[in-house]
Amino acid sequence: MEIDRRAFVASLGGATASSLMSDEAKADALEEFMSARLNETVAAQAGAAGQSFPSTAELEAQIETRPLRRGVGNLFAARTGNVKRLPPMPSKRLVDFFTYRFAGTSNHCLQSATKALRSGMTEEVVLACLLHDVVQEIIKVDHGWWGAQLFEPYVSEKTAFAIRYHQALRFYADPANGYEYPDLYRRMFGHDYRPEPYIEATYQMVRKHKWYGEARMVTVNDLYAFDPNAQVSLDVFVDVIGRHFKQPKEGLGFDNSPVAHMWRSIAYPDHPL
Ligand SMILES: [Fe+2]
Ligand SMILES: [Fe+2]
Repeated sequence: MEIDRRAFVASLGGATASSLMSDEAKADALEEFMSARLNETVAAQAGAAGQSFPSTAELEAQIETRPLRRGVGNLFAARTGNVKRLPPMPSKRLVDFFTYRFAGTSNHCLQSATKALRSGMTEEVVLACLLHDVVQEIIKVDHGWWGAQLFEPYVSEKTAFAIRYHQALRFYADPANGYEYPDLYRRMFGHDYRPEPYIEATYQMVRKHKWYGEARMVTVNDLYAFDPNAQVSLDVFVDVIGRHFKQPKEGLGFDNSPVAHMWRSIAYPDHPL
């Protein structure tokens, strides 16, 4: 497979972020990058061949064909082969988690936040976009709720709200605000998928909430396809993080907050218990 070097460096979070990574981390990231490109190609070929989306029954039938459940976090399972040794973290600041632990989600989140920044979103929405999916490093099931919980002690209520509810809003089109139901979900959940009642009830609540717009904008700026040519960098967001993310002086995971253990689980996913 031919590698677009610029796209690869961009996927690492830009030249600065990549210069901070160990060779091993870069090798892992390259593998991740190539596998994402491959998935894209396979999906595009399937689309071109007019292949239809799977049904929920077909997806359910696949459960027992895998060693892992689909909701497992990126850090805890390799897409192919074995997991790799993780580099130690120089500190427990948010930017270090981006560089050393969010390898599977940072490019997607940076692309979303970049889109939000360019479209003139408020900094609270830009931050929500930057953080909206990174909890998928530990768990994917109900990632909106998990993600909001992970960040709640450190961001505004509005940002946490947007992170929590983007998950439910994704399933409901809002063409007036520029959001159509993405094909990606027909592929992931099945063409005949109907959200569970708790998702529907959450949507109805959020639809009437004064912060509906904030949560909706996370879905509008979300990316539903991997763009290998996107130029993204965490550098652009350092000031937004500085203004809106309350970095604990003890480091994430060591501030005795109710979510400290979640950050430690991301820092040390190889601990057996
Ligand atoms: Fe998400
Ligand atoms: Fe997303």
